[in-house]
Amino acid sequence: MSRLKPVGAFDEAAPTYNAHAGIQQAVAQQLVWDVAQHLVESRSPVSVLDVCCGTGLVTREINLLLPNAEIWALDAAPSMLEETRKAVPRVRTIEADAQNFGLDRKVDFIISSMGLQWMQNPFATLEHWRTQLTPGGIACIAVPVEIPTWVAFCASHGIENRLIAFPKEEDFRAIAETLTVRDHTIVYPNPRAFLQGMKQTGAHTPKEGSSPTRPGALKKILKETEPLSVTWKILYLTVKNGPC
Ligand SMILES: C[S@@+](CC[C@H](N)C(=O)[O-])C[C@H]1O[C@@H](n2cnc3c(N)ncnc32)[C@H](O)[C@@H]1O
Repeated sequence: MSRLKPVGAFDEAAPTYNAHAGIQQAVAQQLVWDVAQHLVESRSPVSVLDVCCGTGLVTREINLLLPNAEIWALDAAPSMLEETRKAVPRVRTIEADAQNFGLDRKVDFIISSMGLQWMQNPFATLEHWRTQLTPGGIACIAVPVEIPTWVAFCASHGIENRLIAFPKEEDFRAIAETLTVRDHTIVYPNPRAFLQGMKQTGAHTPKEGSSPTRPGALKKILKETEPLSVTWKILYLTVKNGPC
């Protein structure tokens, strides 16, 4: 498979990912809690696919929640898949592009946390995921839509926000069954820790067309010692394949 642009950075970050994945851990727990609520209301899925599984933060929770379900985990980064297999040895892994993969057979449940924002066209990708569901199947997705405190931090320090452009809630209105935005706040010991966290989780591929931060401005930020409280706005959405 040819190397997808941000995937190389994720592949390299696999060994350091979990130690720096505070926001991803919090979102994975919330998403799996949401899935558990769905299961109370609908039939129990026999097959589940974790798309953009990374090191398996979601896969391992799904394995605990649904010990009898068949579980697949898909990612384009081989080192991430290796971490997932270590975390959940029974899982079957698929190395593929989340934007156009094809499964041998459809699955009852797709779950994906903090991956959709990396797709070139998140809406089209979500439509593709829907085609991989069994009739009545559900996709539960968590995707960041805004990090307003980081944007404000950049503005107040006179630097460009180089994080990738996130999708917007309204992008998904035509396809989503439910949409909820929740705030998750992580307090980093200082701005350096936030930037390091992005790097050590592989999420530092900059927005296309953005310019590198001036060395002087960066040096100043890296020396700051005050804690930095960062609020992530995360969109939780569900998509169904036809009526249940
Ligand atoms: C921020 S991580 C999230 C991982 C995991 N779901 C979690 O919550 O910790 C994003 C993941 O998406 C994967 N990814 C990015 N673009 C992809 C693509 N086009 N196809 C498959 N995986 C992709 C990366 O390799 C990475 O493992």
